[in-house]
Order: sequence, then C-alpha cells, then structure tokens
Amino acid sequence: MGMSHDELQRRAHEHLLLHFARNGAFGPDAGELLVLERGEGPYVFDTRGNRYIDALSSLFCSQIGYSHGEEMAAAAAAQLTTLAFNTNWATAHPPAIELATKLAELAPGELSHVFFTSGGSESVEAAWKIARQYHLANGEPQRTKAIARDVAYHGVTLGALSFTGVRPMKEPFGPAPIPVRHVSHTGAFRAPDGQDEAAFCARLLAEIEQAILAEGPETVAVIIAEPVQNAGGCLVPPAGYWPGLREIADRHGILLVADEVICAFGRLGEWFGSTRVGGRPDLITTAKGLTSAYAPMGAVLVADHVAEPLFADKRTLLHGITFGGHPVSAAIALANLEIFEREGVLENVRAREPFLRERLQTLRELPIVGDVRGAGFFWAMELVKDEDDTTFDADERERLLRGFLPRRLLEAGLIARADDRGDSVLQIAPPLISDEAVLDEIVERLHGVLADAGAYMGVGAAVAG
Ligand SMILES: Cc1ncc(COP(=O)(O)O)c(C=O)c1O
Repeated sequence: MGMSHDELQRRAHEHLLLHFARNGAFGPDAGELLVLERGEGPYVFDTRGNRYIDALSSLFCSQIGYSHGEEMAAAAAAQLTTLAFNTNWATAHPPAIELATKLAELAPGELSHVFFTSGGSESVEAAWKIARQYHLANGEPQRTKAIARDVAYHGVTLGALSFTGVRPMKEPFGPAPIPVRHVSHTGAFRAPDGQDEAAFCARLLAEIEQAILAEGPETVAVIIAEPVQNAGGCLVPPAGYWPGLREIADRHGILLVADEVICAFGRLGEWFGSTRVGGRPDLITTAKGLTSAYAPMGAVLVADHVAEPLFADKRTLLHGITFGGHPVSAAIALANLEIFEREGVLENVRAREPFLRERLQTLRELPIVGDVRGAGFFWAMELVKDEDDTTFDADERERLLRGFLPRRLLEAGLIARADDRGDSVLQIAPPLISDEAVLDEIVERLHGVLADAGAYMGVGAAVAG
C-alpha cells in the first residue's frame, strides 16, 4: 500500500523540491504540505480526506474536471498497447497526425500547422524559433527582438523567461537571451484612462507603436501577448486592442503570437481565446487544457504563411523535443476534445459566465475587494486597503497573500490563488464543467474568506467602526 499521511509529509520534506514554493515553509518544524490524492468532478481530496472545490482547475489545466479517468485510461491503454512511443522527429504516428488535423479544424483563421511540445514554456520557445526561421527564410535575419507586456508570465525556461515580464523571476538568472521590450499591460483598474475604453486602447497601442519605432521596426520579430493576461489578475483587453495589435504587426512585418497556454480550450468560452478578443494571431501557443492535464502536452499552431517557408527545398526546422507530441498524450488530447464536444463544455462556459460574473460582482460589497474582473471561467478580485483602493505594502502582502489567505482558503475547502506578481489579487478559474451550484458555492466561500481577510487586515474597520 502507499505511504501514510504522516510519512508522505516527512518524505516530501526529505526528497521533493517544490516548484515556485518556499521549500522551507513545509516540514516537521513548519507548515503542513497540501497533498492531494484523489479527484472527482470539480473536487479534489487530500490525504486527510478533506474535500476542496478546485476553483483553480489545478493551475488552469483540468478543464473537464477529474471524473474522466476511465475514458482517458482506455485511450492511453489502447495507444500503449499499440505503439507506446515514437517521436515527431522526421517521423510520425497516427495520434499526432489526427490531433494536428483536429486542431487545424478548430483553430481560427488559417492556423493549420501544428508543432507539438510537452508544455507551455516549450510552446513559447518553439513559437519563437519558428518565427525566427520565418524571418530568416524571408531574408530578414536582423529581426531578433520581441515585444511583450509588463507582469505577463510566458514561462520560465530561459528562452521563455525572456518574454516573461515579472522582474523578480528574471533577475537572479542574468541577462535574457532574447532581447525583449516590455510595454504596459491591459490592466484598466489603475490606469488613468482605464474607464474610457477607447482612450485607454489608443494609448496602449500608441505605446507599442513607439516601442517598435524606438527599437527599429525592421529588428522586431514578434509581439507576444495573452488574450486575457493571467499575471496581474485576469487583465481583459479593451475593445479594439487585438485588432490594433494585428494592424501594427502587419504594418511593420512583425509576427503576432497569442500565448493561449491558459486562454485556449474553453477558458474564455471559445476553443481559442483569440476568438473572444478579436485576435487574428500568426501563431498560438497552447498547453494545459489541450489534454485537460490527463497527460502533459503543448502545441503551437502556426499560420499557413508562417509555415510555408519551412516547406522549402532542403530547409530544416531547427527545433525538436523528444517527447513533443507523445502518442499517449496525443491520444488523450483527442479524447479530451471529444469529451469537450460530447459534453458541451464550451456551451457550459458560455451559458454560465453571466451567472458567475453577476455572483462575483457581489463580492464588491466587501471593502477589501477593489475590483472584480475577468471573462469566461477566469476571474480575479483585486484586493485593496481602503476606499481609495490603496495597494498593500510588501509586509502586508506577506501577511495577507502568503500567510492568511492560503490557510483560510483551505479551511474553507477552496483552492484559489492569492498572487501579487502585479497588484494583490485572488484568482479563480473553475473547471469548465462546473454547474451553477458549484459556482455559487465557490462565490459563497470566497465571500466568507474575503470578509475574514478584510477583518484580519483591518480593512474597512474605520468605516464600519
Ligand atoms: C500564459 C502562459 N504561458 C506559458 C506558461 C508556461 O507553461 P508551463 O508551466 O507549462 O511551462 C504558462 C504557465 O502557467 C502560462 O500561463
């Protein structure tokens, strides 16, 4: 049998290095590590038997929830007993070809070529290399730079980290290998013109234009952005922003990359988030929801005109990853997309988004909630100190976001994300199969947690008292 709860805690401390975590915060003389051992629908269960609503879909991955294990196991077993593995290195296998065909069918516009990876950072780096090879083939080797946005997260492998705009994640690792200029993100809440959507949009686009002119338009290879930016807290773009990006990219011969590692596969109620925001990208990067995380996989969708030079005589695509397009992952991705269609997953998000939006807006009655924003099943509450929407300082964020909230959320049986890569937010991204009862329960629990957080931080005390 497996290890007991106590042994798992001990062994984790002794042997497991946690990602993006203070490893010293867990262990015999510190806090208890959340160890999840089972899932069912939108719920997960820890090794003490506590049940949580997974209101973050295991980091934006488990679109269809946790109850499709048998079907996925059957898809995996069929593949494993036929051909356990082959690469996509100048060879292929039926599941990769079938999945590429399916993705081309679902993709917006003319994005009908697919390069498979094992995850999001790999997708971002592959998109960069494909874009570089496109420019090289077109006799423009000097296009070596990129435009990305402040606070955006595009992954952590060193190439992808270049695009990431979260400074503390970059600084320890020296100069970025890809020269990237970061421009303002689309956070309207604190923008001086954020309430005037047209003015806000025009300013953001003008800033990008200026950045490109300053770098030299002929030196810029790509603009990369998420349809709705995750880091900073579900930053929805103003109307016209993505069409504006397209226009700027076209005018300067730059390729437009939509990083949809989170926004694809239903998170915004569409197969691809670009559709929701009026984007017409040249490349789309994906991962997470492609398999609903029943297996690791990523994919880059490439427009026909970008792929075309890769088919020229004697040209080699100079990028490859052993496990990219693993047949078992591809078989699982095909099963996942089949479940999406059979169970009306996109339709569920579209039908219930207004309900979720309306329920979440009620949280604004709490003094600690300054803003509620998002789209689809992807929402953030920005947390503030007072009626003037003052931000929390570093010590307060430490107490609130790394102390109080993680503990209190678990007590409330809720998995959500307290984050301050930008300003302080609490984020949710429920499984896309969640019904109204689950969504309602999430908001109910958030209300309790945030009311307590306000009291703990003394927010609204002067007003109430
Ligand atoms: C928008 C975006 N791009 C890239 C990545 C990196 O993906 P991965 O962690 O699979 O490497 C993430 C991860 O959360 C992401 O949200």
